[in-house]
Formats: sequence, structure tokens, C-alpha cells
Amino acid sequence: MLSLGLKITMGVIMAIQLLAIGYATHLLRRTKYSVIWILCIVCFVTSFAQHLIYILSNGVVDFRLFITFDLILSAALAVAVFFANKLVNYINRLNYQRNLLSKRLLSTVLRTEERSRSQFAKELHDGMGPLLSSAKMSLSAISTENMSERQQEILQNTRFVIDEAIRSVREISNNMSPQVLMDFGLAQGIRNFISRIKSLHTIEEISFETNIHDDRFDNDIEVVLYRVVCELINNSLKHSHCTKIEVVLMLKNNSLELRYRDNGCGFNLNSSALAGMGLSNITSRIDSLNGALSINSSEGNGMEAFAHIRTKPDEPSPKTRKRYGRKRDKNSIS
Ligand SMILES: Nc1ncnc2c1ncn2[C@@H]1O[C@H](COP(=O)(O)OP(=O)(O)OP(=O)(O)O)[C@@H](O)[C@H]1O
Ligand SMILES: [Mg+2]
Repeated sequence: MLSLGLKITMGVIMAIQLLAIGYATHLLRRTKYSVIWILCIVCFVTSFAQHLIYILSNGVVDFRLFITFDLILSAALAVAVFFANKLVNYINRLNYQRNLLSKRLLSTVLRTEERSRSQFAKELHDGMGPLLSSAKMSLSAISTENMSERQQEILQNTRFVIDEAIRSVREISNNMSPQVLMDFGLAQGIRNFISRIKSLHTIEEISFETNIHDDRFDNDIEVVLYRVVCELINNSLKHSHCTKIEVVLMLKNNSLELRYRDNGCGFNLNSSALAGMGLSNITSRIDSLNGALSINSSEGNGMEAFAHIRTKPDEPSPKTRKRYGRKRDKNSIS
């Protein structure tokens, strides 16, 4: 004989199971009849039937019937766990491929941006440069003998303006796509940028140490590291009031390591007031090459940055290849 308390408890259990069956049926439709939910429903229905029979027979049940129910329940659970494991692997694989895709997308966007910058810089340099130079030559050919002082002054001013325009065109096109970087590589590009910056600012020292000399790397790597150094130096000059900047670029075991430090005022990295795009842009650039960038700074303590990029693409480990590199058609689950 079943006590009333036991009957009520079993009733509650059966109500919960009915709810779970309803929810699993809903999920079954949403996941296009995934085996996992079918097995869950089988488990709940079996357990529900077990309880129902127990209540209806007032606790007098054939033991073999109970064992049969248990067998069905355990088998369904075991198979569900197997498929759940398959599902987790499938989700991991999808995440891995999504990350890969977004990195490829980012790198394509940055490469396209760099290509159009270089195209524009070339057009500007080769188009405007000769025009301004010939205007300057034409002005030089004008004789000043019969000119009044006022006219000579105007001519002088015009020459000055044209010289400025030539210098600006060169500088803009160089900023957009640095020719030295393209022609002589990363170390020379950075050296050239630093010497230009030194001539324009009154900073005490910008040191640059490297072991790469004339070595050349993949164009994307050179451009990204060059842009990172430029942004960090520009930031130090713009925000930090520093007197000293150290840039160290080393090639170690197929990796380029950039260490950067300034002795300025530093900043709080977690502050919500950091509104610019510079730091997030260089982070995305490095990310697009599967590299890493870490920045350390706190108010009053200057700032330090460390970037690391592999110069040869990472070989996926056999485990990763086995896990994530399967063909598309194998990615489906039942
Ligand atoms: N070396 C530094 N020293 C002190 N503060 C810095 C330094 N670098 C960055 N910051 C702070 O971090 C903020 C974000 O820098 P970020 O380069 O992203 O933007 P920005 O330089 O202000 O603008 P943008 O780079 O888009 O022209 C800066 O506004 C500045 O407050
Ligand atoms: Mg900036």
C-alpha cells in the first residue's frame, strides 16, 4: 500500500516530467528533430510510465517490468550523452571556423585598405608632384628685373607656397603609404619614421634597437608592425608628455617581438574616457595576423606595450587538425 505522502510526491515528479516532455517536444521542433531531444523524451516518458504503473498498481509491480523500464531509460540516456558530446564538438568546431573566418575577413579588409592607401599615395605623389614642380620651374623662369618690389614679394610668396605644397604632398603620400617601408623593409621604415618625428618634435630621445637589419617579411606583417609603432609613438607624443621613448624590435625563433616603452604620464587602461580608435585599430591589426598585443600602463608610470607576431604561419597541431579541420560534409550532426 502506498502512503498518501508518497502518492503526492510521485504526482509532483510526474507533473515535472510532463512539463519536461512538453519543453523537450518544443525544442525538438526548434532543432529540426535532433536525436538528443527524441532520446530525452523517451527517458521522461519511460520514467513517467514507470511512476504511473507504480501508483496504479498501488506499489505492487512486477520486478521484471521495472527492470525493462530501467534498461530502456539507461540506454536512452547513454545514447543521449553520446550525441550531446557530438553536439559539443560540433559547436566547438563551428566557433573555431567562425573565428578563423572573422580573422580572414579582418585581414582582407585591412589589406584592401592598405592597397587603396598605397594606390592613392601613388596617384598623389606621381600626379600632383610633377605638376607642382613644373609650376615651380615656370616661376623660376620669370625674370624679376622689371618687377616692382610688391610684385617680387608676391612672386617670392608664391614660390614659398609651392615649396610648401610639394613638401605637403610628399609628406601626405608618405604617411599614407611609406615608400621606405616598401623599398627597404621594416627596420628602415621605422628608422625613417623616427627621424622624421624627431625633426618635428622636441622630444629628448627616441631609441630604436633591432636585430632584423635588412631582413624582409611578409608585406602584411611589415605594414602592421610599422603602423603599430607609428600609432604608439604618435600616442606618446600626443598624450603622455614623455621625454624618452624606447622601441625594441627583435626576431626570435620565427617570431617578431616588439617592445615599446615611454616615460610619460601613463593612463588608466580601464577608463571609460578612452575614446580614440588608435589602440583598438592596432589591436585588430595584430589580431588579423594571429599575433598578440598587450599594453601595460597606469597613471604616473608611463606605458609599455608588447607585440608578438609569428613570421611563419602556425602549423595547426595534429590534434587541432583532427578536431577542427574535417571536411564540411562531416560537420553535420544528426
Ligand atoms: N602613451 C600614452 N600615454 C598616455 N596616455 C595614452 C597613451 N596612449 C594612449 N593614451 C590614452 O589612451 C587614449 C586612447 O588612445 P587611442 O590611440 O585609442 O586614441 P587617440 O590617440 O585619442 O585617438 P586616435 O588614435 O583615434 O587619433 C588616448 O586618448 C589617451 O588618453
Ligand atoms: Mg592614438
